[in-house]
Order: sequence, then C-alpha cells, then structure tokens
Amino acid sequence: MKRQSIKNSTILIVGGAGFIGSHLVDQLIAEEAKQVVIIDNLFIGTKDNLNHALNKGAILHVDNAENQEALTYIIEKYDIDIVFNCATKPLNYSFMNPANTFLTNVLVLKNLLELQRKNSFQTLCHFSSSEAYGSAQYQPMDEGHPLIPLTTYAAGKASADLMLQSYVRMFDLDAFIVRPFNNYGPRQNFEGEMAGVIPLTIKKILDGSTPEIHGDGKQTRDYIYVQDTAHIVLKVFPVIPPGECVNITTDQQTDIKTVVETVADSMKYKGTILKRTARKADVQSHRGSVKKLADMVGQTQKTPFKDGILNTVDWVKKVKGNS
Ligand SMILES: NC(=O)c1ccc[n+]([C@@H]2O[C@H](COP(=O)([O-])OP(=O)(O)OC[C@H]3O[C@@H](n4cnc5c(N)ncnc54)[C@H](O)[C@@H]3O)[C@@H](O)[C@H]2O)c1
Repeated sequence: MKRQSIKNSTILIVGGAGFIGSHLVDQLIAEEAKQVVIIDNLFIGTKDNLNHALNKGAILHVDNAENQEALTYIIEKYDIDIVFNCATKPLNYSFMNPANTFLTNVLVLKNLLELQRKNSFQTLCHFSSSEAYGSAQYQPMDEGHPLIPLTTYAAGKASADLMLQSYVRMFDLDAFIVRPFNNYGPRQNFEGEMAGVIPLTIKKILDGSTPEIHGDGKQTRDYIYVQDTAHIVLKVFPVIPPGECVNITTDQQTDIKTVVETVADSMKYKGTILKRTARKADVQSHRGSVKKLADMVGQTQKTPFKDGILNTVDWVKKVKGNS
C-alpha cells in the first residue's frame, strides 16, 4: 500500500476548530502540508483554537459538514487530497439532544464517504471513540471488543465506524479509523454542561467553587494527552491498511478520583471534593489495548499525566485571564 504523504498534500480537517482537531491542524502544518483547510460550525470549536494555524496560512470555513453541498464546495475549491474527520457533538450533549448527537456523528461521515466514492479526494482518516465499546467486557479492550454503546453519542460513533468499513468493502476506498481513548489537555472545553471533567475541575478551583466527583470516583479511563494523540495519528497514517481500526491509547489507566485529586494537588487546592450522584450510562471501566498500535508504529510519545495536567492548568488560567 502506498499512501500519499502529509507533506505537500492539501488537507481538510472536518471539526478542526475543536479540541483534538485543532492540535492535529497544528501538527499538520508542522509536517509541511501544502495547504490546511478547516470546516467547523463552531458548535463547540472556537476560532481562538486556530489562532496559531490561521497565522500560518490555514483557512477556516465556518459551515455545517452535515450539509453535503458545503463539503462538496470546499473539497472541489481546494482540490483536497486527504480528509481527517474530527466533527462530533459532545457526549454530554446526547443527554439533552440524543437524536441530533447520533445524527451528526453519522451524517458528516456519510457525506464524506459519498464524496470519496465519487473520487473527490483520496484518503479519509475518521476519528471513532472508545465510547463505541461501552463498558469493558474484558480488559484491556482490543479492537475486536464488541461495540455495545451506552449513549446515542456512542451509538453514532459505532454506526459511523460500521458504515465506513462497509464502504471500504464495497468500493475499495482508502479510508480507515483511529479510535482514541479519553483525551485531555489545552483547548478542551471547560464551559457549561458539556465540559470535560479535567478542565471543569480546574475551572471550579480557579473560580473558588468546590470540585465534584460523580459516583464513587472508581470509574476508570485511559487518559492520553491531546498532543500525543495528534502525534500518534500522524504516525499511524502512512501504515494503517484501508478499513482497519486502531486504538489510540497509552494504556495509562486512572480513576476519576485520582484525576480530580491530581488536578487539586497541582493547583495546591486544599479544600473538600463534593460527592455527587453517579451519571446515568457512565461507562465503569476503560482500559485500551495498545498492542495493535505498538505493532503498527512501535513505541509512541507519552506525556506524563502530571505534566499534561500542569500544561492544562496553565492553559485554562491563560484563557480565563487568571495568569
Ligand atoms: N476528546 C476526547 O476525549 C475524545 C475521545 C475519543 C474520541 N474522540 C473523538 O475525536 C474527535 C474530536 O473530538 P474532540 O474532543 O476534539 O471534540 P470537539 O467537540 O472539541 O470537536 C468537534 C468539533 O466538531 C465541530 N462540529 C460539530 N458538528 C459539526 C458540523 N455539523 N459541521 C462542522 N463541524 C461540526 C465542533 O464545533 C467542534 O469544533 C471526535 O470524533 C470524537 O468523537 C474524542
């Protein structure tokens, strides 16, 4: 298999103003992509996440990728070679608007696969999620683990993955799936009901309010620093065969209680931590197998959890004007 390299390619990042997408954009620019183009409806993403990239010549289109014509226009206008699909609605949003969250995850990918089937671009890297697995039936969870989604967000992710694999079987598309576990780091949303636990805890401490844990805090997640994810995806890119899926994880399992306490310690917070009722459909345990990833690309970048937390604290402080 010979895939076009990132260097000198024209690349579209769908949902590229978001958390992971914007870090990927920065790394694609560092890898000397010819042109980086972003489509994002700014549902959660922000133009600020792209400040650096826009200064370096990236182009942002604020538009809805569920709209086939919006995508067709951009892909034709720039003669796109490679597409990374990072668009999604947040998991928490699926508790408020379950059907819409499901459909965004499915419709954006459907549009991309239909365009790829018509040879509008060459290669598609689609972002799945460890949420597609649901709670672990066995650990560590490898790529053959059954998909038992607990939320409509996860059901949308799982459905999208199956759709991609069927398009590859039917039409020989050069499309593949990367499946990250829990990401954390700068640019993760910390506002409102859709905030991630790490930035939310940091914000609460900065605001002088009390950090919280839902349930007993023993739920575990495999945390991976967002820049490590972007780095690993670009290492996977040249070698993963079409139709394949690979976990993006560093096998760094941490329970939520430890996560909140690590944030509190690194901010020298000495107050209490509130215990709240468990969230419905919260997966209990997530430990990803790194075997397939390691077989594909060898050892990968692994930012120590405490360093990643400190970088995240610095970023939240900067954005909130606390530093
Ligand atoms: N953050 C994590 O921990 C994590 C873990 C596993 C998988 N993932 C996956 O990685 C990808 C990126 O996640 P993220 O954390 O950066 O999420 P994010 O919400 O920060 O980014 C998603 C982006 O998609 C945009 N978007 C939503 N609907 C759109 C639409 N219709 N048209 C155009 N843009 C739209 C949003 O505005 C946002 O900028 C997603 O596929 C997600 O499922 C994330």
